[in-house]
Amino acid sequence: MDTIERFEQFGQGHVFQFWDSLNEEERTSLLEQAEEIDLKELAELVKSLVGGEGTQSEINYDALEPAPYQPIPDDIESDSRWQEAKQVGEEALRAVRVAAFTVAGGQGTRLGFNGPKGTFPISPIKNKTLFQLFAEKIRAAQDRYSSAIPWFIMTSHVNHEATERFFRENASFGLSESDVTFFRQGRMPAVDFQGKILLESNGSIAMSPDGHGGALRALSRSGALDEMESRGIEYLSYFQVDNPHVQVVDPYFIGFHAQSNTSMSSKMLPKAYEKEKLGHFCVSGDRLEVVEYSDMPDELTAQRDENGQLRFIAGSVAIHIISTKFIREVTSDASAISLPFHKAIKKIAHIDDSGEQIVPNEPNGVKFEMFVFDALPFAGEPMIIETTRLGDFSPVKNAEGVDSAESCRADQQRLFAQWLMQKGVEVESDELGVPINKIEISPLFGYNYESFAESWERRGPEFDLSKEAYIE
Ligand code: UD1
Repeated sequence: MDTIERFEQFGQGHVFQFWDSLNEEERTSLLEQAEEIDLKELAELVKSLVGGEGTQSEINYDALEPAPYQPIPDDIESDSRWQEAKQVGEEALRAVRVAAFTVAGGQGTRLGFNGPKGTFPISPIKNKTLFQLFAEKIRAAQDRYSSAIPWFIMTSHVNHEATERFFRENASFGLSESDVTFFRQGRMPAVDFQGKILLESNGSIAMSPDGHGGALRALSRSGALDEMESRGIEYLSYFQVDNPHVQVVDPYFIGFHAQSNTSMSSKMLPKAYEKEKLGHFCVSGDRLEVVEYSDMPDELTAQRDENGQLRFIAGSVAIHIISTKFIREVTSDASAISLPFHKAIKKIAHIDDSGEQIVPNEPNGVKFEMFVFDALPFAGEPMIIETTRLGDFSPVKNAEGVDSAESCRADQQRLFAQWLMQKGVEVESDELGVPINKIEISPLFGYNYESFAESWERRGPEFDLSKEAYIE
């Protein structure tokens, strides 16, 4: 049966209603888009989600308990469990069994920025972009472990070309081209509240990225997973493009993962306040789950233990280690595991039946997304380790206020001041802990405290901190 007939059979024949007015090129492109759509999957989603619940997975709130985690010891250097994990992680890094993996499908729209989010400038003095900071951290780790740690970047259809171009124009920020791989995430069609696919124009469907959970199938479909396997990569160090503080590859975390009985591990932070917009690590029976901030009932977020501490304290910073073997398993045709879709009700620009362009003021349709943390319940025993806020997390999400470029630049400088003070350097800071004279430390000088401390031992006296200082 041909594509158009199949669409008619599934009640989506209107997708081709302007067919006669399209030229050859437009027809080919519409058919290509249409062929990306799994109509059976879509019909099921429309049935279960459009007009129904927000997600295909059902959360049993009565059974939710806080998830266990490994707290950071006060003195990490003398903690044998953590040091052992570090050694295992370092071995994996040296043996090139770890790849860095960034989900970078997003645009900078929420920041009022036009372009792939990774090209947003964020460092306090040099205005290095998010991508440059990650690239330099990876380079520094490559040098440290004498290892060609590869980097995989998931883009979306909207930003793929622009992202590749940005790396080309900047000579991959010093990384070898063969160590950086880009691949596109999948797309899903948007539908109206009756479940009908929306058209963006006469000859194109309103398609949008299928969520970071789509990373798993995109890794497999794009051939990136094959490449990882042929390089002998066992672990992916997963992080979001919006978080320049991430350590990129953390030997402690990799080691805990490698020693555990899980295929996917996570980092947590104690939530700073009840309503902080972080997913919550919970267990339900023996299943680990992340319950999104938007799905967590207020009465659960507000619960406190006998010490007055938030009971559901473990916030997800969207940093994971994922075993490549697991990705292969979940994406194989024979797999019984499929990630649930979530719906997002949105204002979706489209054309109506008469071909007129509509830009709605009110939500008019539904987009479908998968979340990568929905793989956790299938991954085995929970393995979550605590991290420090400045050491791993200060995302750039909003144009101003909390989690903005401004708060992130301040956090970067707080972190640099902390490192310097740990080395006995006096840093004058304001009442919020931000240094009076701007400081920026290049990841190539130090990308975590340990690497910074080593460089500082050698070269510290070269730098004058009585004025704005870029340490490289
Ligand atoms: C996300 C997490 C939340 C976590 C928080 C930490 C979800 C649903 N929630 O919230 O649990 O506590 O981060 O910062 O993810 N992305 C893609 N492709 C997509 C969609 C997203 O690559 O199709 C990437 C974006 O570029 C971005 C990241 O995933 O870097 C996060 O997506 P976003 O929708 O901004 O999630 P948050 O609401 O910030």
